Amino acid sequence: MVTATPPTESRPAPPRDRCVTGIDGLDNILHGGIPKGSMVLLAGAVGTGKTTLSLEFLVRGAEAGERSLFLSVTESSVKLTENLSAFEFFRHDLLEAGSLVIVDLPDMYSRLGLDHEELTTEEIGLLTRSILALVAETGAQRVVLDSLTSVGYRIRREERIRDFMLTLGQGLNRLGCTTLLVSEVASSEGRYSAHGVEEAIVDGVILLGNASRRGDILRVLQVVKMRGTSHSRAQYVMELTPIGLLMAPHLKGNRPEGG
Ligand SMILES: Nc1ncnc2c1ncn2[C@@H]1O[C@H](COP(=O)(O)OP(=O)(O)O)[C@@H](O)[C@H]1O
Ligand SMILES: [Mg+2]
Repeated sequence: MVTATPPTESRPAPPRDRCVTGIDGLDNILHGGIPKGSMVLLAGAVGTGKTTLSLEFLVRGAEAGERSLFLSVTESSVKLTENLSAFEFFRHDLLEAGSLVIVDLPDMYSRLGLDHEELTTEEIGLLTRSILALVAETGAQRVVLDSLTSVGYRIRREERIRDFMLTLGQGLNRLGCTTLLVSEVASSEGRYSAHGVEEAIVDGVILLGNASRRGDILRVLQVVKMRGTSHSRAQYVMELTPIGLLMAPHLKGNRPEGG
């Protein structure tokens, strides 16, 4: 028997295994969450909310019973924990129970003896294997690297960054991890990453930015790309509140900052 299939546009997203981020606004934009095992670039200028979104993603996961791992390069785990305490959704017991693990990547660099400014191919391999071993050891299903940009400063060459991301992405996918890679970009640049190759490798790109409305600067979020799901491409206003990130459609008449 042949059954008529309605056009893709009018159908709900296919029942693929999702990582429900737990940030309701984002899950709605993504029609149910990030396809499990994806590696997603979270790009934006300084202060646009990349670290905050990443932390809420992990806390919500840990609450739902998914182990979560935050790899921090630029901010110390102590400072991150302090900042997290300002949010009502944060629960200290998640850290104590090991459901949420925050690791300082500079400590890993020292332990592995990675002290050259520019890492060699062998050293990049060692770093990748160590990150994957840590993910396997913690049993993490959600991983954040904050930031890919700062690791990239030490990898430098485009083809090595590509290899690093491909190997890391394949390893994390095998472990069933959904990953956010934070990408720091200047607001004036209009790009998603330092080298421009990063966005081609990842499964998804979420862009955070600023927009001005009558003298106020708003934070905005846009899902630019997400393999394996339909999603809205519209810009949403993102508010950082004590109970977490809230999103609302960005109404017409608001112009992007500088645009
Ligand atoms: N609890 C909070 N409520 C509202 N705003 C906050 C809160 N915590 C941090 N912020 C704001 O978030 C901004 C930094 O966000 P962050 O996630 O660190 O950005 P990024 O990682 O993109 O640089 C800061 O400018 C700060 O004012
Ligand atoms: Mg940050």
